[in-house]
Amino acid sequence: MELSARPIYLYLIGYLLFFSQCVTKNSTAGLTTDPVVAEKYADPLKLVSPFPIGTVMSLSTFGLPQALSIVKTEFSSVTCENAMKIQATQPTATTFNFTESDSITNYCLRNGIRLHGHNLIWHQSLPAWLTAFQGDSAAWENVLKSRITTMLTHFKGRVKSWDVVNEALSDDGLLRVGVTSSNSKASLWAQKLGKDYVARCFQYAHAADPDARLFYNDYGQEYSPAKLNAILAMVKDFQKRGIPIHGLGLQFHTNIQRSDTDLKNAIAQMATSGLLIHISELDISMNGSQSYSAPTPAMLDIQKSRMNVIAAAYKALPASQRFGITFWGISDANSWITNDWPLLFDKSYAKKPAYYGFWDGLKL
Ligand code: G3I
Repeated sequence: MELSARPIYLYLIGYLLFFSQCVTKNSTAGLTTDPVVAEKYADPLKLVSPFPIGTVMSLSTFGLPQALSIVKTEFSSVTCENAMKIQATQPTATTFNFTESDSITNYCLRNGIRLHGHNLIWHQSLPAWLTAFQGDSAAWENVLKSRITTMLTHFKGRVKSWDVVNEALSDDGLLRVGVTSSNSKASLWAQKLGKDYVARCFQYAHAADPDARLFYNDYGQEYSPAKLNAILAMVKDFQKRGIPIHGLGLQFHTNIQRSDTDLKNAIAQMATSGLLIHISELDISMNGSQSYSAPTPAMLDIQKSRMNVIAAAYKALPASQRFGITFWGISDANSWITNDWPLLFDKSYAKKPAYYGFWDGLKL
């Protein structure tokens, strides 16, 4: 039958049905109006990726249906943005509150999503009781050990990997202790427990759950060779001393000004450790100068390209080292960075060019 002979409305119905199917297919990830694009990128990130792709959750995620739908559709791993930190889990030295962290953990397990533990020991987000704690060194050691032991024991079997220590080093590669020119925030843990507290954190964690994969997590590997080299040196020292460490987290809170070379180099250099590599808190900000009220097409294009480079560079790692890539936010509406657009989904939960760049980097 000649095409022109068919009543035009049949084509209209056919197109609308196809369009609605595309929208339905992508409705969790925001409306994709171009059916060709919708078809090409029909597989969600977790299906197109050979390794886990993660995001963060908090209790508020459960009240955001589009965000929650994206978590279920696109991601195979979740990190609690704040729910497992000491400020959220330990209201006093001897009491723990797992309400928020358990609700997120159990939701993820019910939905077949991996839960990565974040974090056990960090110099930030400290509760008032800790900053006011007046114990001697033995009492401080007990605070450290009991926190780590209680956390690993409580989540054992449900959470199988942890950021044991977060951001213990300054950008100059030295241990963060007091405030210096290269770090604006002191570490109470280092001050009270001495420079080798990091090693003991890993030992306590391993003793509590020998099956857990234990990570050191930090930022700045893409712009500070001193910090990158200090992390690699710490790994070598731990391995020589038999201190259990299994992975390294590169937070990658980066920006569109960072070069492809810097990003690729950080991933490749950290992988020379031979450990699991987790790009653990990825976002690519664009409005550092705060001069824009919306991203320009040029900004979005560079962000797309950076996401593509990161995905491709990470995918090139040995499969045995690919722990996964985790985004530090579901959409630009949920980012910790204000007045910026650092993630894969925009403030209306629609896919951005960054999504397609990242997807292509995983697939191609
Ligand atoms: O829950 C309280 C709420 O009760 C209170 O009303 C409100 C106002 O004071 O604060 C709420 O806590 C906030 C918490 O986020 C939950 O929203 C804290 O003030 C705020 O400081 C905290 O910010 C988090 C920050 O870490 C500090 O913990 C960000 O959401 C989180 O994205 C950020 O994530 C860190 C990683 O853990 C480590 N790497 C760097 C990254 C960015 O800083």
